[in-house]
Amino acid sequence: SSTVDSTFLYDTFPDKFMWAVGTAAYSVEGAWEKDGKGKSIWDTFTRGGTRISRGDVGSDSYHNIPGDLRALQQLGVSHYRFSLSWPRIFSNGTKESYNEKGVEYYKSLIRGLKEIKVQPVVTLYHWDLPDSLQTLFGGWSNSVMVELFREYADFCFKTFGSDVKFWITIDNPFVVAWHGYGTGVVAPGIKNDSDLPFRVGHNLLKAHAAAWHLYDDRYRSSQGGRVSMALASHWIKPSRTRQENRKACQCSLDFVLGWFARPLFVDGDYPPCMKRNLTHRLPSFTEAESLYVNGTADFFALSHGPALSFQLINDSLRFAQTEDLGLRMLLYWVGAEYNNPPIFVVESGWFGSGNTKTKDAKQMYYLKPIRFDRVNVIGYTAWSLLDGYEWYREYGIRRGLFFVDFNTPDLKREPKTSATFYSNLIEKNGFPQLPENRPTQGVFPCDFAWGVAANSIQVKF
Ligand SMILES: *[C@@H]1O[C@H](CO)[C@@H](O)[C@H](O)[C@H]1NC(C)=O
Ligand SMILES: *[C@@H]1O[C@H](CO)[C@@H](O)[C@H](O)[C@H]1NC(C)=O
Ligand SMILES: *[C@@H]1O[C@H](CO)[C@@H](O)[C@H](O)[C@H]1NC(C)=O
Ligand SMILES: *[C@@H]1O[C@H](CO)[C@@H](O)[C@H](O)[C@H]1NC(C)=O
Repeated sequence: SSTVDSTFLYDTFPDKFMWAVGTAAYSVEGAWEKDGKGKSIWDTFTRGGTRISRGDVGSDSYHNIPGDLRALQQLGVSHYRFSLSWPRIFSNGTKESYNEKGVEYYKSLIRGLKEIKVQPVVTLYHWDLPDSLQTLFGGWSNSVMVELFREYADFCFKTFGSDVKFWITIDNPFVVAWHGYGTGVVAPGIKNDSDLPFRVGHNLLKAHAAAWHLYDDRYRSSQGGRVSMALASHWIKPSRTRQENRKACQCSLDFVLGWFARPLFVDGDYPPCMKRNLTHRLPSFTEAESLYVNGTADFFALSHGPALSFQLINDSLRFAQTEDLGLRMLLYWVGAEYNNPPIFVVESGWFGSGNTKTKDAKQMYYLKPIRFDRVNVIGYTAWSLLDGYEWYREYGIRRGLFFVDFNTPDLKREPKTSATFYSNLIEKNGFPQLPENRPTQGVFPCDFAWGVAANSIQVKF
């Protein structure tokens, strides 16, 4: 495929293609205990163990709505994906602990977006669980979370929903379940029970389904939005063409993407290969639950990017196959496996090392799957708007299109090369065949920027 992929396609994206950029509350907001915000599991997680820094200040977005809006305007995006911090809205996680000032922050942000004509794409849960729910109930390992999440979602739909057309319930449930409650790499950092991730995954799916049904029953007709869960995946290429290898590849994808995608998009149940491999370790859905979970995604929200590099820290999930970052193949597979749903790429991008300043390059390579493979990609989200606190990598990597100088008191935002590249791409809605469109060698090395490179990028730790 690399010979086909190495020919650059000059073309434009479909009309109304959504160009977005995103952030997660804990990486950018800071203000970790301001104005009545409760502690999240990240606030406690980063205070334990060997971690050397925290997201207490992040990129200080809580105090800099104007700066973030300016950056969005400079990019010219049509959509901004951000997440709500649950403990900022309900400080201990329950509706009784409603925090007016936290809600005001998000109302101001949404008002500001409206003024610059950028549509919000809102994530309800991007990993920052109210700490008291972890302490009192064991967090997502407890099925009480299903109802607590539903109440939180209800409040958010009611409060912000008239201005929101795209909702993501939960970001990357694989990372939450596997790395939060299995390897312990991310908060809450639990790693003493190898079956726990599957119970957590089960509760995440039910919580998502509960929020989707609530939206469908009570809000959809008046608010007209769409709801999904953001699923991330790597792509695995068969080492050889032997049948066993192809099965192993399928199984590797099933253990990451299929774990959540199959229940939502196919039949309300786990992939057969997971059930065979895990037997009783995998919880089961009753028939009624399967019906309840099946079909609870209005579009396919796909994440593709460095998250996958830590998905594969665990070798057993590789099934002895080779990791491959081929986005075209992944999109093709999602289309084929899940009955050609509309795909909104809700996170995509690569990162530079912590000391990269404003020169970087990002791959933007979505034209071919749309044009040649007829995959229905409806939007793309570059990740992220700003450099910020990058989870277990802390400030060691930078993912922003805007550079943030963490050493200045005002945490100044400065556009990187990728911001200029992205805003040109958005303005032209793709790469029409114009002389000025040809990449300049040295600024965007063809091999890198044009996506062949999917195969050659080295993900370093
Ligand atoms: C959460 O806070 C509210 C308001 O302070 C209180 O009424 C409630 O009991 C608390 N719930 C939990 C689970 O801590
Ligand atoms: C694992 O650790 C948690 C606390 O982090 C504890 O509550 C739980 O009982 C432990 N589980 C097992 C199986 O040891
Ligand atoms: C499940 O997969 C793992 C990882 O490849 C393998 O070691 C194990 O033998 C499998 N178990 C079953 C019951 O198939
Ligand atoms: C699951 O939902 C899809 C449509 O969303 C439907 O085609 C399929 O028949 C359902 N499967 C089951 C087992 O209910």
